[in-house]
Amino acid sequence: SRTAVVIPAAGRGVRLGPGTPKALRALNGTPILIHAVRAMAASRAVSLVVVVAPPDGAAEVKNLLDAHALPERTDYLVVPGGETRQESVRLGLEALPEGVTTVLVHDAARPLVPVETVDAVIEAVQEGAVAVVPAVPLADTVKEVEPAAEGAGGAPEPVVATPDRARLRAVQTPQGFAHETLLRAHRTVTEAVTDDAGMVERLGEPVVVVPGHEEAFKVTRPLDLVLAEAVLARRRA
Ligand code: CTP
Ligand code: MG
Repeated sequence: SRTAVVIPAAGRGVRLGPGTPKALRALNGTPILIHAVRAMAASRAVSLVVVVAPPDGAAEVKNLLDAHALPERTDYLVVPGGETRQESVRLGLEALPEGVTTVLVHDAARPLVPVETVDAVIEAVQEGAVAVVPAVPLADTVKEVEPAAEGAGGAPEPVVATPDRARLRAVQTPQGFAHETLLRAHRTVTEAVTDDAGMVERLGEPVVVVPGHEEAFKVTRPLDLVLAEAVLARRRA
């Protein structure tokens, strides 16, 4: 059995602000993407990492991978990404060789996920789950609203419902899958979804949650960069 990881890294990072694509921005001097690749290759089970690069940045990403020390036991591939995360993941999946049985999908934007979380996801798949999602309980109460019309930013929004927080989980990556199941999901599900496990749910296949980790947070807004650098500093201390 062979375990591969697809790392979607083709986004611009609009919410982080203008500049270099998010995955190529530095965190303590090293690109976010390189941190994410190292976090995956830290697992001894991972033998292949497929990086999905910004469409015009595949050569640059290849150079970056060559320029950084990465574990020898792991192979690396770079493919150009698409317009949406969903499309980028599909392009990464189409690049996987025969013989891959377990596939993980990991956001480049989650550079600090600990190897224990990666291993826990892989183990759950290898023990028979077809789709595994690391997730954490919510700190904030969540309300469903009737969203204000686009452009009406700041207008009051009526509350529709308050789901029981104890039953909610905030999902992270890496999400793990039986290769055949995720490939089938990406080839057949056409609705837009915000995570890969959501596509497997659309197939009617079971998805399970395992404990995630607070350090697997997604670098989305500028404040997340401050937190990420603080986490790295704490690791070095
Ligand atoms: N991603 C991708 N291809 C896209 C869009 C997103 O590979 N067309 C990747 C991002 O590079 C990121 C992951 O999907 O690693 C999670 O997406 P997100 O955090 O939303 O990143 P961006 O889409 O780049 O950020 P934003 O939504 O703020 O523009
Ligand atoms: Mg996005």
